[in-house]
Amino acid sequence: MSMFEKVQKAKEYLKCKIKETPKYVVVLGSGLGSFVECLKDPIEIKYEDIPGWPLSTAPGHAGRLVYGKKENANVLVMQGRVHYYEGYSMEEVVFPVRVFGAMGVRYYIATNASGGINKELSPGDIVLVEDHINLLGDNPLRGRNVDEWGPRFPDMTKAYDREMIRLAEKCALETGEKLKRGVYIAFTGPSFETPAEIRMARVMGADVVGMSTVPEVITARHMGMRVCVFSCVANYAAGITDSPLTHEEVLEAMGKTAGKLNRILESLILALEANDV
Ligand code: HPA
Repeated sequence: MSMFEKVQKAKEYLKCKIKETPKYVVVLGSGLGSFVECLKDPIEIKYEDIPGWPLSTAPGHAGRLVYGKKENANVLVMQGRVHYYEGYSMEEVVFPVRVFGAMGVRYYIATNASGGINKELSPGDIVLVEDHINLLGDNPLRGRNVDEWGPRFPDMTKAYDREMIRLAEKCALETGEKLKRGVYIAFTGPSFETPAEIRMARVMGADVVGMSTVPEVITARHMGMRVCVFSCVANYAAGITDSPLTHEEVLEAMGKTAGKLNRILESLILALEANDV
């Protein structure tokens, strides 16, 4: 079966479970799952039940979709994603994004955990991503282009939607939360970066570092979805302090940031719905 057919099959399965078209997708990163609690009339769909769906193996990632309403907005939440470091191909990593695009989702909102490279950043900060550097050594669009999905050479100059950034900043101000802006750099992992790699990333212009999100953003843009990414700083990137990096520390920090992030996400969705930008 071709990837196009696999995506259609997953889409048909989800359309049977969810009668409405989701307008927003929210992807929740490591330790950030609690956002789903704000959804009305939630419908839960386990990844293992969706044909072709890749299963997440990373600790701190639940494997399910939750569809529900935030006031009048149709929201589909992805609790847990798969990463390139798990051994999945790029095509598999972005499979969910292909399905969302095929379903007619318009806004792709992703969250992730990151290490702070910029010395002005501390654990607990939330960074609105305004651009990225792809250091994964691969691209999800490599291979034959599926013209029904998007163009061969998609533009990436404004991959991170300017209007969504503007609204998110307005929402943060209104809810009294602080947001910063920065450039996200993706390394493959799963080992954390070395201090020398972090110095390199800083020279390249990166502010935060992580192991996810970039393939999905490229794919979402390929399909014309509007993209916004919140990167939650879990730790100082390697070499900034003396302490070793651990995944437990990342999950603990995310647990502390989740409340603040949830308030911003909820208010951003309501603002997008009201403005229909
Ligand atoms: N590096 C890469 N990914 C991460 C980090 C980090 O320091 N923190 C959380 N995810």
